[in-house]
Amino acid sequence: MSSVTVRVPAKVNVQLSVGPLRDDGYHDLVNVFHAVSVFDEVVAKESDHITVSVVGEWADQVPVDDGNLAIQAARALAKHAGRTYGAHLVIHKSIPVAGGMAGGSADAAGALVACNELWGLGLPFEDLMEIAGDLGSDVPFSLLGGTAVGTGRGEQLSELPTTGSFHWAFAVAQGGLSTAEVYAQCDRQRESAGVEVPWPQVDDALLEALSTGDAATLGARLTNDLQAAALTLRPELVRTLDAGRAEGALGAIVSGSGPTCAFLAADADHAQRLADTLSQLPTCRAALAAHGPVPGPRPSWSSPRP
Ligand code: C5P
Repeated sequence: MSSVTVRVPAKVNVQLSVGPLRDDGYHDLVNVFHAVSVFDEVVAKESDHITVSVVGEWADQVPVDDGNLAIQAARALAKHAGRTYGAHLVIHKSIPVAGGMAGGSADAAGALVACNELWGLGLPFEDLMEIAGDLGSDVPFSLLGGTAVGTGRGEQLSELPTTGSFHWAFAVAQGGLSTAEVYAQCDRQRESAGVEVPWPQVDDALLEALSTGDAATLGARLTNDLQAAALTLRPELVRTLDAGRAEGALGAIVSGSGPTCAFLAADADHAQRLADTLSQLPTCRAALAAHGPVPGPRPSWSSPRP
């Protein structure tokens, strides 16, 4: 039986500036996304119904019912196409679950690309992006890959040219964090501080550093407005960040809503050294070395297309 395989990268946010709370419960953002070489693989096989199974290190933490974002993506695609389609999706999970690296969004993006191909729909990228935006704020970037500035909820994307590769280490924490809870904590902290929340602005120096491949400047300018909230919910992450800084990281930051912490390294060897050190911490479940940017998902058939 033929099947379609798609590899989808994780992301780190190199700038995450969070504006005021909107009436719809979301926040307007400046969200500079960067896709990194930690991949989930989604394999779509012919089937009568839309089902999912998950394998890999984090598999036990992923729902296989309607709460699974890849199932929701396949259903949304079938609905968009106006027909009943089936597929069995096998997710090979390497991206930490509820870790702030868009693992669920990656699986949804993978399901969209894989099923579009498996079902022979041939829908254009723009249609997939539209469906992706309805599935979650980070799903459009998971489809795009590379490096991009997100505005609105994060779903309105503008691609960013970069030079060379940036090298990263990621410290995966014990347990996950709910994105909605971290945003809510951020709102509470802002309310009790009583300061007016400014409209988020793109950091031009950070974009310049990405465009010229200047890792030292990028490291110094990493920002995440959700970091204080994530550290309040998980104070032990302070120790993780300090350990990476002590090992010479050019920048240390909570990735998205956390609790994964991201460390920018000087080169690939430094990233591996950082990962080795971080993996020894009692606050870490695992540590990974990776590089970015990497491209978004592309489908490939396991046997000739029928
Ligand atoms: O879009 P997504 O379903 O991934 O968002 C999860 C939660 O994160 C939302 O329900 C909301 O609480 C929060 N969020 C937000 N502002 C954004 C994106 C997400 O408040 N721009």
